[in-house]
Amino acid sequence: MRYLTFALTKGRLADKTMELLKKTGIDCREMEDKKTRKLIFVNEELKLKFFMAKGQDVPTYVEYGAADIGVTGKDIILEEGRKVHEVLDLGFGRCCMCVCGPGEAAELLEHRELIRVATKYPNIAKDYFYNKNHQTVEIIKLNGSIELAPIVGLSEVIVDIVETGATLKENGLEVLREVCPLSARMIVNPVSMRMENERIRKLILGLRTFL
Ligand code: PRP
Repeated sequence: MRYLTFALTKGRLADKTMELLKKTGIDCREMEDKKTRKLIFVNEELKLKFFMAKGQDVPTYVEYGAADIGVTGKDIILEEGRKVHEVLDLGFGRCCMCVCGPGEAAELLEHRELIRVATKYPNIAKDYFYNKNHQTVEIIKLNGSIELAPIVGLSEVIVDIVETGATLKENGLEVLREVCPLSARMIVNPVSMRMENERIRKLILGLRTFL
């Protein structure tokens, strides 16, 4: 039997994923040593390997087949647009991709004005404005603290993740439009899906009973 390799998103998402896998009888003792600097963890009996990556890179590892299976956020899957199969909504990390801004910006969307949109997710923003709202906009790519942009006058609105809404509220911004719901998803390499169909299907069915 060959190894099945998982690419996990390091941090809370990996912890949650391992918690869920454990319920189905899949664990990895090597990983429980929190001090370890190891990058790859193996479960010899089950012929499984796990590695931690930055969430953004998970679809890349899976598309190229460096990992058979990956877990990352729907935001990243949409933004990266890699050739992978999304097979399962894991239900955790729920939040929403939204267009946000000061209340007054609502009418700029209504009237489809030519506005500036700051975001960490240019592809998602483009798809929303061009294909859904049919509005021509200028997309400005930022790498974090997106809420700053409308406050300092870099853009009229932002496209960003809203979880509790606290960041928006504390900065006098609000949700103007909901783009799509987000959560952690399991993705699979298309070739692995065919070659290891039985093992992967069993894994998906096992996980489903705990969702
Ligand atoms: C995310 C997101 C928002 C915030 C939303 O940022 O970009 O800023 O969390 O959460 P809330 O609705 O619960 O306030 P993150 O903390 O990941 O960092 P970033 O600013 O670097 O993107």
